[in-house]
Amino acid sequence: QTEIYGKGALAGILPSVTTDPRQLEEQAKRTLGVRAFNYVAGGAGEKATMDSNRLAFRQWKLIPRMMRSMDGQDVSVELFGKKYDHPLIMAPIGVQGIFHEDRETGLASVCEEVGVPYTMSTAATSTIEEVAAANGDGKRWFQLYWPQDNDVTLSLLNRAKASGFEVLVITLDTWSLAWRPADLDNAYVPFIKGVGCQVGFSDPVFREKFEKETGSTVEDDVLGASRAWIGQVLSSSPHSWEDLAFVRKHWDGPIVLKGIQHVDDAKKALEYGIDGIAVSNHGGRQVDGAIGSLDVLPEIVDAVGHKMTVLFDSGVRTGVDVVKALCLGAKAVLVGRPVIYGFGIDGRNGARQILQGLLADFWQSMGLAGIRTVGECNRQLIRKVQHAG
Ligand code: FNR
Repeated sequence: QTEIYGKGALAGILPSVTTDPRQLEEQAKRTLGVRAFNYVAGGAGEKATMDSNRLAFRQWKLIPRMMRSMDGQDVSVELFGKKYDHPLIMAPIGVQGIFHEDRETGLASVCEEVGVPYTMSTAATSTIEEVAAANGDGKRWFQLYWPQDNDVTLSLLNRAKASGFEVLVITLDTWSLAWRPADLDNAYVPFIKGVGCQVGFSDPVFREKFEKETGSTVEDDVLGASRAWIGQVLSSSPHSWEDLAFVRKHWDGPIVLKGIQHVDDAKKALEYGIDGIAVSNHGGRQVDGAIGSLDVLPEIVDAVGHKMTVLFDSGVRTGVDVVKALCLGAKAVLVGRPVIYGFGIDGRNGARQILQGLLADFWQSMGLAGIRTVGECNRQLIRKVQHAG
C-alpha cells in the first residue's frame, strides 16, 4: 500500500490497472475483446446468483475494534498442515490464454512472485508440466474436472503429483456447463478447436484412447478430440460419492471438494474422508438463483468446520471481503474474477498489481478492524444487516 501511494503521490506513477474494484470490470470491458470479456464477466441465467454473492458481502458488516495493538500483526494461516503467509489463494480459472498471451504460465509465475498459491484449472491452455515449471518454487494446487474415464483421471493425478501440485481440488458443480447467455449469444464455447483442452491433449492416456477409438491423432482431428475431451470433463454426468474412493486411493495429498453449498453435502464430504471443502457457487456461473455463497458459509462452518478445512469463494472483490469470510469461519479464500480482469488488461503486470493490491488491502483492513491475526477473526466482529448500502 505504501508503495502504491508512494509511487502515485510522490512520483506520479499510476497503476496500469485501476485500484477501484468497482471500476475494474469497466476497464476490463474496454480492454478485453468482447468474447473474452463475456466469458469472464458472464454468469448463468440472469446473473441473479452473481448479484446475490455481492449482496451477501454488502449485508454482512464488520464491527471494528479500536486501540488494539498491532505489534506482530501476522496474517499467516495453516492449511492441511502447511504454513501459508496469508489466506489468499488464486482460484482455478479456465482458458487463461484467451485473456492474455501470458496464459497460465504467466499467471502461475506471478503467483510465485507474490506468494499466492496458484490453483491450476483442468480447462487450461497450458499443460500441467508447463504450469509447474513456470510456478517454480511456488505453492500450487490442481483443480480437477473429474474425467468419466478412471484411466484418464489416474493419469492426471499422477502428472499433477509428479509436477509438485500439493492439493487436489475437485470441482463438483460443473459436470456440465450451465446456461450462460453471454457466451451463448456470442456463439462462444472457448473449448472448441482445442482451446482450453491442453491438459487433455497433452495426456498420454487420453491421446492413446482417442487414437485407438477414432484412428486419428489429436492433431489430425482437433475438433473431434475437443469433443471427446469435453465429453470426459465438462459435458457428462455427475460422479457419485462412492466414486471418491478411487481418487482417495490414488491421491495421497489433501483433497478439497469445490462447489459445496448445502450443509448435508458438507457433512457427506466429512463422512467420505475428504480433507476440505470450498463453499462456492462457482461465481454464479452454474445454478442461477442459487443462494449467495457467503450466506451459507456460517451454517456449513458450524456443521463441519471443527473437523475439516472450510475454504470460501464467490464474490470476493476486496481485502475487507476476505476479512468478512474469515470472520464467518473460512480458513482461506479463493479469489477469481478480479485477478483475471487485471491479467486481461495488462498480463502479468496487471495480475501482479491486483494480487499485491488485494494483499495490501487485506493487511490494512485487518489492522484497522483491530484484528491482529487470522485466529482472532470471529463472529463477534461481523453482523448481518438487511440494507445493503
Ligand atoms: C471460473 N471458475 C472455475 N472453477 C473451476 O473449478 N475450474 C475452472 O476451470 C473455472 N473456470 C472459471 C473461469 C472463469 C472465467 C471464472 C470467472 C470462474 C470458478 C472460480 O474458480 C471461482 O469459483 C469463481 O471465480 C468465484 O467467483 P468470483 O469471486 O470470481 O466472482
